[in-house]
Amino acid sequence: MPVPHDIAAETELWDAFAESAFNDHAEPVFNWTQYTDHGPGSELLGDPASVLEIGCGTGRALAYLAQRGVTARGVDLSPVMIKKVTDRWGDSGAEFVCGEVLDFLRDDTRTYDAVYSIFGAAWFADPGQLFPLVRQRLAPGGVFAFSQPPAIPGAYGPQGMYKGGFAGKAMFTYRYSYRPAIWQRLLTRAGFHSTDAQLIEAPEPDHIDTLLVRGHIHPDAPGARAGSPYPPVKL
Ligand SMILES: C[S@@+](CC[C@H](N)C(=O)[O-])C[C@H]1O[C@@H](n2cnc3c(N)ncnc32)[C@H](O)[C@@H]1O
Repeated sequence: MPVPHDIAAETELWDAFAESAFNDHAEPVFNWTQYTDHGPGSELLGDPASVLEIGCGTGRALAYLAQRGVTARGVDLSPVMIKKVTDRWGDSGAEFVCGEVLDFLRDDTRTYDAVYSIFGAAWFADPGQLFPLVRQRLAPGGVFAFSQPPAIPGAYGPQGMYKGGFAGKAMFTYRYSYRPAIWQRLLTRAGFHSTDAQLIEAPEPDHIDTLLVRGHIHPDAPGARAGSPYPPVKL
């Protein structure tokens, strides 16, 4: 059963997140995990000339890529966050768009060598709708990669999530959790040619790991151009 996303209410929640999470002094960084200076970086995207980050939040990963010559574009639901990241990172060359990811992808006409999400919109949008839309926007040889916490055992599918504690205004959203093999099956069904899913271990025992999932488009897919290699996951 699909859950009833209320995008206006979710926008309010993420605007509140933006007010608390954005730090003007944070530097560009590309980090898939929730731990500082831990785990792999942007090399897991291969060597893309163009990227789209879905649910780009604080914009630090896009600024990191833009500073290295990548054509970097991000979409995020929160107008508050988009204003902050445009002011902070606009000079890097990264482009930021305010929009709901499914609506944005339905209207988008560009293609990208990589689409990615770091605890971003791939965690908060229905993968049954999201994955085929991402697939359509990827160039031959392209990759879709996303990270988020692994599912809690037994708790699969859309999960309701209140913002902050359990007092105050009732703001909630839904996030999606599956076992790695199910994420891979969802990608295959959406038209990805090969997939992988890996756990990046937390820096300390018994702490929360990070799940990293990728789907690849074959370089010889219709309309292919040469190149766009992507490396296997080495974690
Ligand atoms: C937990 S934050 C993490 C984002 C980012 N990795 C960062 O470092 O800030 C999730 C982001 O996804 C965005 N988001 C959630 N649902 C979305 C949707 N349906 N469409 C677009 N963005 C969405 C939120 O606005 C938020 O900025």
